[in-house]
Amino acid sequence: MGISVPVSKHYIASLSLLKATPNTIERPNNLGNPALNQLREADRAVHSWYRFVLSFPPHLVQDYIRKFQLDRGDHILDPFCGTGTTVVEGKKLGLSSVGIEANPMAWFAGSVKLDWTPDPTELLNSAHQVSDAAKTLIEKKTQTLRTLSEESQKIILTHSISPLPLHKTLVLLDQIQRYAKPAHSQHLRLALAKAIVTSISNLRFGPEVSVVSVDKVKEDAPVVDAWLKEVCLMAEDLSQVQTLTEVPAVIHHADARHILGVLAPKSVDGVITSPPYPNEKDYTRTTRLESVLLGFIQNKAELRLLKEGLIRSNTRNVFKADNDDIWVSKHTDIQQIAKAIEERRITLGKNSGFERLYHRAVKLYFGGMAKHLADLRSVLRPGAQLAYVVGDQRSYLQVMIRTGQLLGDIAEGLGYELVDIELFRTRLSTTTQEQMREEVVLLRWSGKVPSKPYPFSDEPL
Ligand SMILES: C[S@@+](CC[C@H](N)C(=O)[O-])C[C@H]1O[C@@H](n2cnc3c(N)ncnc32)[C@H](O)[C@@H]1O
Repeated sequence: MGISVPVSKHYIASLSLLKATPNTIERPNNLGNPALNQLREADRAVHSWYRFVLSFPPHLVQDYIRKFQLDRGDHILDPFCGTGTTVVEGKKLGLSSVGIEANPMAWFAGSVKLDWTPDPTELLNSAHQVSDAAKTLIEKKTQTLRTLSEESQKIILTHSISPLPLHKTLVLLDQIQRYAKPAHSQHLRLALAKAIVTSISNLRFGPEVSVVSVDKVKEDAPVVDAWLKEVCLMAEDLSQVQTLTEVPAVIHHADARHILGVLAPKSVDGVITSPPYPNEKDYTRTTRLESVLLGFIQNKAELRLLKEGLIRSNTRNVFKADNDDIWVSKHTDIQQIAKAIEERRITLGKNSGFERLYHRAVKLYFGGMAKHLADLRSVLRPGAQLAYVVGDQRSYLQVMIRTGQLLGDIAEGLGYELVDIELFRTRLSTTTQEQMREEVVLLRWSGKVPSKPYPFSDEPL
């Protein structure tokens, strides 16, 4: 096990390589090319400990670190950092990095992915001790199967895990808690989260999460071995990156719409991020099973609290008291899109509770993003450069939402310079068979809040 190359040199070399190449980004074949969004084998270490299906790839982060000519000593931020791609890649390249993430499961995953201090051999020894204890207990067939509380059961997707794998998982979690040293326990828990979604559960991701068909349900699963396999991969990666443990990197469990107080003023040189899009994707659903099993959410009230901390990008997390829409109440295009969605809903006779919220979700989304971009200004250094990866959408009754253009427009209203909107790739829409653009909105912050008031709301931002 282990790699004999002195790895810190490897990564430092790769940062200078990034700097040596011209600061343009060439994506020769980005029309409908799925490989552009995939994790490359050379980048796999640490990133693959746990990822969202739709996480953006580390090579995209490398592209913008190079384009922005960021160097060691510079600070990069991902305010919607998900499972930590930007922050992990920044750390790998020796840049001090910070993330913000509101979903506790994603925050936990990203935070563990930044802790490269455990000794790989000790981590494996710890895992083997836990594994022996768990297997002994699991083999004692006399005990009744462990289950989740009724409240927790209610918030996971029905049949997302079969009773026997669930029992084994809960036994294993107990043994991690009992036998693992504090220095190892979070890594062992994250390895279990990864094994749950990839090998133990009945979930499938395509890219939305769902439960497999009845004939594919796993009545049993080799829970402990699947988990051990993930721990072994982690240990191998740790032996590669261990010399970089000192590079500062942290993820805050916070709301990107309320950044003030979380980050120091004028501390950020570059932002590379992919916020949610207005596309009905519920990030709490994607992570639901492992969030419940690892104890991050246990009932409906906790789930609601989590949803309230997120940008409203789907109607499952729109609540009566929400008012982020005030920040775009005077944005003509956004108001027109919302009106078109509502008129189309009425014409089509779509009357479900969620359909009635479509137009509202769109306004709340852009209002929330406006609030985020407004707060962000005070933590940026003058001259800071920003890259927001977002996709055009037709999720609401096929009304086109040009997310990148609208965000660029809001940003300009807040005093950012809209430098460019680059095409990252296109994705084939399954409903309209149309290639939808996924773009990178490039902004620059001059350091000066404009003297004229923010134009898209009566409220000052
Ligand atoms: C598109 S994903 C980011 C994926 C990320 N680039 C990665 O590689 O894993 C958007 C993330 O934003 C998070 N998010 C949504 N609203 C947020 C908020 N108000 N503050 C912080 N994070 C938020 C979601 O939980 C989700 O993890």
